Amino acid sequence: MALALGVLISGRGSNLVAILDAIQEGRLDAVVKIVITNKEKAGGLELAKERGIKTEFIDPKPFAQENNRREAYDLAVGNMLQEHGVECVVLAGYMRIVTPALIRMFPSKMVNIHPSLLPSFPGLDAQKQALEWGAKVSGCSVHFVTEGVDEGPIICQKSVVINEQDTVETLSGRILEQEHQLYPQALQLMAQKRLQVEGRTVKILQ
Ligand code: GAR
Repeated sequence: MALALGVLISGRGSNLVAILDAIQEGRLDAVVKIVITNKEKAGGLELAKERGIKTEFIDPKPFAQENNRREAYDLAVGNMLQEHGVECVVLAGYMRIVTPALIRMFPSKMVNIHPSLLPSFPGLDAQKQALEWGAKVSGCSVHFVTEGVDEGPIICQKSVVINEQDTVETLSGRILEQEHQLYPQALQLMAQKRLQVEGRTVKILQ
């Protein structure tokens, strides 16, 4: 049975498209049940719609008055994902910190992609951080989502060499190319039930 994915995005959605391409080309045994965004204008929404994928904008504003507004928002997101039969939640350029309320609804079934070799350069502007640090190598990581930001067990990583001439744009572009390969591969391992988490380590079953 194809793995039922729910994808959360905030922006242009190129990783979402890479995932949809991999499904279409038979490299990923999955189906995207719904794409949810916190940003009404996220470019990825149109790309998903063009491919006939259901999309939903959940506006954070109405939740702003509630004491636990982030949890309340995440519960709304989680309920929508569950209503659509989502088994695995894929964060693809989703620029909100997810709360335990949502993580608990999908235990060991929520993944994220980050544009650095974690644990180096977590958080925002990872490519800029790598350049400013003077790192010679960076890359991207796919990891399970846990309560600490960008801290969950790492599923797979790909390195990218940094050149002296690199700018944030050129480095980001080369990392993004690798992201587009890596994310579908990680999700295919999940679809094949080949990921086994032991503490911080993710074992890949043969
Ligand atoms: C990607 O580079 C992704 O790794 C990054 O945002 C970009 C989204 O691009 N995510 C993070 O920085 C999360 N901390 P996309 O919308 O084209 O997939």
